[in-house]
Amino acid sequence: MGAWPDLTEYHEAVQHPPRAFADPGLKVVALELDRFGMPKPATGGNAVVYKAKEPGGFLSFKKTWAIRCFLRPISDHAERYEAISKHLRKVRLPYDVDFQFLKQGIQIRSSWFPIVKMQWADGDLLHSHIEKHLRNPASLEALRAKWVTLVRHLEAAQVAHGDLQHGNILVRGGSIQLVDYDGMWVPALRGRKATELGHRAYQHPERSEQDYGQEIDRFSALVIYLSLAALERDATLWERFHTGDNLIFVREDFHQLGRSAIWQQLRRIGSRQIDQLATAVAAMVQQHPMKVSNLDSVLKNLASFKFPTSIPASPPAPKPAAVQGARAAGAMPSWMKKTGYRDHSDD
Ligand SMILES: Nc1ncnc2c1ncn2[C@@H]1O[C@H](COP(=O)(O)OP(=O)(O)O)[C@@H](O)[C@H]1O
Ligand SMILES: [Mg+2]
Repeated sequence: MGAWPDLTEYHEAVQHPPRAFADPGLKVVALELDRFGMPKPATGGNAVVYKAKEPGGFLSFKKTWAIRCFLRPISDHAERYEAISKHLRKVRLPYDVDFQFLKQGIQIRSSWFPIVKMQWADGDLLHSHIEKHLRNPASLEALRAKWVTLVRHLEAAQVAHGDLQHGNILVRGGSIQLVDYDGMWVPALRGRKATELGHRAYQHPERSEQDYGQEIDRFSALVIYLSLAALERDATLWERFHTGDNLIFVREDFHQLGRSAIWQQLRRIGSRQIDQLATAVAAMVQQHPMKVSNLDSVLKNLASFKFPTSIPASPPAPKPAAVQGARAAGAMPSWMKKTGYRDHSDD
């Protein structure tokens, strides 16, 4: 096997499906093209994905594929995908999409490289869906309820996605589907390390490759839940804090607990539930990534979280003694009272 293909090589290769692919279905696909007649890829951080249609009689609606080409090698990729596939078939969740890991996937420079052939999931990516429904809080609320159910089902089925974020969550009508299973954890993978750490705007800031288990979705699940709840009450958070590559939090906010502008703005909503959720997220940042509570248990115990007394980021803001005393007594945490704004580009 030669050097790992880059984007340009994938781009070139997929334009000739009969030569590029070994899979009989993929050999006959028509790729979705842009207005210049070039293949229209979607990229995340780890893969380039092409949408392609296989001609196919009355089942044709099932034959629109996402052809996922990897931008870097992962040594035990095939084994991981095999374990994931087996487990997903067993637990039969309604949130995953059929896929096949093809070891002999795409031919480039006379070598074969793996791809994932996956059913194309129609729908809007989570951030687009939210943006379309900002003026409809009831619909965001319905989505939030669905989110709780999805997260509960994944936990019960012993599946962790590993990278819950807008680019991997598709919403269509009332249903949610997850794509991108590279970082997924299932019980058969216990003992291995994570191959990726997930999107920075959603992950516990201390998460490392050692952290790989049922727990890896918990922080991101909570961040998404709080983001939806907050947007239901204050849609203006979107124009102010959505960067195009997050919902309303960025990584920096998890380092700047209580100090960056989002925390102040959440406080201004004046909702006890939002305050409690924000406190829960802040408290979870202080936990080890693998000790974050699951969403159901956070929601059940919302009133029990205290804002952490030691804030990890620097520089610490001066705190008047009176406020510190109040915090120790469990009153409104000082970070919620402070004001001040900062720029919200992700680092
Ligand atoms: N099965 C699928 N159905 C529809 N869109 C998909 C599918 N798989 C991937 N995509 C699109 O391609 C993008 C990148 O794919 P993804 O698998 O998330 O790669 P990465 O690992 O690089 O994030 C996704 O954000 C999504 O827009
Ligand atoms: Mg992705």
